[in-house]
Amino acid sequence: MSQAKVFITRQLPEPAHSRLKEAVQTEIWPHQLPPERTTLLEKVAGKEGLLCLLTDPIDGEVMDAAGPQLEVISNCAVGVDNIDVQEATARGIPVGNTPGILTETTADFTFALLMAAARRVPEGDQHVRAGKWQTWGLTLLLGQDIAEATLGLVGFGRIGKAVARRAAGFNMRVLYYDPEHEPHPDDPPAQKVTLKELLSQSDFVSLHTPLNQDTYHLMGAEEFAQMKPEAILVNTARGPVVDSQALYLALKERQIGGAALDVTDPEPLPAVHPLLTLDNLIVTPHIASASRATRGKMAQMAVDNLLAGLNGTPLPNCVNPQVYRT
Ligand code: GLV
Repeated sequence: MSQAKVFITRQLPEPAHSRLKEAVQTEIWPHQLPPERTTLLEKVAGKEGLLCLLTDPIDGEVMDAAGPQLEVISNCAVGVDNIDVQEATARGIPVGNTPGILTETTADFTFALLMAAARRVPEGDQHVRAGKWQTWGLTLLLGQDIAEATLGLVGFGRIGKAVARRAAGFNMRVLYYDPEHEPHPDDPPAQKVTLKELLSQSDFVSLHTPLNQDTYHLMGAEEFAQMKPEAILVNTARGPVVDSQALYLALKERQIGGAALDVTDPEPLPAVHPLLTLDNLIVTPHIASASRATRGKMAQMAVDNLLAGLNGTPLPNCVNPQVYRT
């Protein structure tokens, strides 16, 4: 394996970086921005391993450019919508991801966004910095209560449940919509409902689904029309789960109260995007899992997956385990 050649699409934090350098022949993309498509196709050629980020689209063309010796693709993210997993599976290439370790960090950030939007934290900060703070105001920057409010979780997997546990501390009523989840005694307190029921009853709607063909534009004009006029949408899942144009109109027309997005479509969101003209929107640059500890663990897990694949052993976290059954 020490002769194995791998392409790493970005610098990894320590100790993941040194572990890789010691174990295999690494070629590491040294820049902050992802490699351009043509560069990526060039760099993967002849490599046995590929460690990539969610910003790198990995499809059949990349796998072809790598060549038939490609043994493993390791994504340093839990979501794998940037990878054509079906193509990888058809070629018998295991694909690794980083589930579990970022659950609590992402749930923390979901709550941070929810609270920041409900209580208008960024607007308050801007108010002070702009020199507008003249006195304590009885009606200054009024927001919404979080305690006792209804939280609707679209997706009740690891992260959705972690958000529900936090909501219990705020005495929130929690609803969830997730066709794939059957209620279980170990679940945090929450009631399974239809999407329609969730949208019409929730004060906060928070998205926790993977991006796939069933969830693409799950939140569009029709869904915003069903939400309460004060309700706030929080998205820490994937940008394209929301139809950005429909969201822009819903926010502009005050059909819903506000939105807090850590993920957008397109991503990154250009500074001139119409969404950024709205004052009832908060946007952060896809940082929900960005604590020092969690990003370090994600890099380590991505290295574990890569090295296992190069060793010919099952990846500790594999999204297409069917490659081992053929
Ligand atoms: C982050 O968005 C991830 O999928 O890990």
